[in-house]
Amino acid sequence: MALPSKKSAILVDGVVLNGPTTDRRAGEKFVEEASRLIMEEVILKATDVNEKVCEWQSPEQLKQLLDLEMRDTGESHDRLLQLCRDVIRFSVKTNHPRFFNQLYAGLDYYSLVGRFMTEALNPSVYTYEVSPVFLLVEEAVLKKMIEFIGWQEGDGIFNPGGSLSNMYAMNLARYKYCPDIKEKGLSGLPRLILFTSAECHYSVKKSASFLGIGTENVCFVETDGRGKMIPEELEKQVLQARKEGSTPFLVCATSGTTVLGSFDPLEEIADVCERQGLWLHVDASWGGSALMSRKHRKLLHGIHRADSVAWNPHKMLMAGIQCCALLVKDKSDLLKKCYSAEASYLFQQDKFYDVSYDTGDKSIQCSRRPDAFKFWMTWKALGTLGLEERVNRALALSRYLVDEIKKREGFKLLMEPEYANICFWYIPPSLRETEEGPEFWEKLNLTFPDPHKMDPTYKGSVLKLRFGTEREAEVAPAIKERMMKKGSLMLGYQQHRGKVNFFRQVVISPQVSREDMDFLLDEIDLLGRDM
Ligand SMILES: *Cc1c(COP(=O)(O)O)cnc(C)c1O
Ligand SMILES: *[C@@H]1O[C@H](CO)[C@@H](O)[C@H](O)[C@H]1NC(C)=O
Repeated sequence: MALPSKKSAILVDGVVLNGPTTDRRAGEKFVEEASRLIMEEVILKATDVNEKVCEWQSPEQLKQLLDLEMRDTGESHDRLLQLCRDVIRFSVKTNHPRFFNQLYAGLDYYSLVGRFMTEALNPSVYTYEVSPVFLLVEEAVLKKMIEFIGWQEGDGIFNPGGSLSNMYAMNLARYKYCPDIKEKGLSGLPRLILFTSAECHYSVKKSASFLGIGTENVCFVETDGRGKMIPEELEKQVLQARKEGSTPFLVCATSGTTVLGSFDPLEEIADVCERQGLWLHVDASWGGSALMSRKHRKLLHGIHRADSVAWNPHKMLMAGIQCCALLVKDKSDLLKKCYSAEASYLFQQDKFYDVSYDTGDKSIQCSRRPDAFKFWMTWKALGTLGLEERVNRALALSRYLVDEIKKREGFKLLMEPEYANICFWYIPPSLRETEEGPEFWEKLNLTFPDPHKMDPTYKGSVLKLRFGTEREAEVAPAIKERMMKKGSLMLGYQQHRGKVNFFRQVVISPQVSREDMDFLLDEIDLLGRDM
């Protein structure tokens, strides 16, 4: 750092105040070098299947490998760059073509540039004076999303997560039902009750608890064999709740459930809501992207009848975490009325421009990231047709995988998927002769691998680590452990409604090909062959 000479230094409280506070040139050079590192180690490697998806380390090992300590004195740039390298090395490559673990994946180059820009500009989207461009972009993106839902007009806001969008919607529905709540709070309210399906996202329960509605006042309506809410059951439950003295106010339907990818029948549910005078919120966090496809938007048939919709472009449209919109049909400024606090230091009403562009007061946040911008960049780059193609491709690849699973020995579909969630079991060779009955399922749930027959790479180690002794392991969790340690693939599994642990494959990224689908099945078979 170039400090002023002793003679010219202006000291206040022992601190030199003239001259640069940090070495600007060194900082700029660091950004340049780190950018090159990000380019080489993350972006150029993102599509390389020869790279590992993850380099697994246990938390204890990782603490040893990373220099996590923050010391009194700063570290050199070389050291910092090495730290950056370590961070990249031990992080999961969610943009790898074989990362299928979550409902997002892949690398969108245009949204990435949008993210770099907003990180560098560091705006906060609350007032037009601080974020003129990003506020207008958010407005434009919301307007377009509203069009795809099929509303004439509407309102909306980008939130840090679909979970938050669901919470906003729940609170909005309650506010609509009893606007007094904003000032008076919960006291004096009747026992409010809401309805969702047994397959809904867990954020519905969280929201109910956070908002003081209570998880016992979330009524989980039964679903059919394909994970769709049964509208007749819904209506029955609503009537029953009324009979018991509760006050129904909201139905939260799901378009694209998290595990099965099921779509609730929106038309029929909207009929029930209309008859019963209930707010209809559609959690389309995952499935909303199908609206972009003329071929697949019928999955959300009836969504235009919803009062609010949650839709995450960061999932299938690859806008990057986080990019989540809540869209609201009401045009009477309900969001603003419900959430505004009119902070006089931020939202002054006597500004020299049209203050209706200061949309930040619609949010429960103060500082807010410009999440719409990266999605706007992608939309600009690909066009609506490009986004449509992205959805069509993901669903065509899903179709291909389903057909392969049906053809291959040792794989069993949970059910015909509607969307991009392909749920299946891997049946290890030792079970393939067993007839599908209680014994089969019990064995699939708890297999007893013979350590002598195990691949020497894994012999003992996997199961010992897991249980401390060589014990039984369930098929899917044991295979997952092996794939994580090998780093070749990441895929989720779960138990679900009494069913034995199964894998859930989700196809999203356009960088994924048929070969990756084949690899997925080959690799699972390779990892589980000795079970
Ligand atoms: C992913 C998902 C959410 C939650 O979205 P976040 O952005 O992760 O909070 C909500 N609902 C459904 C159906 C989802 O699949
Ligand atoms: C599978 O095993 C677990 C315990 O390991 C048990 O809780 C679960 O009910 C079993 N599931 C089935 C379908 O048998």
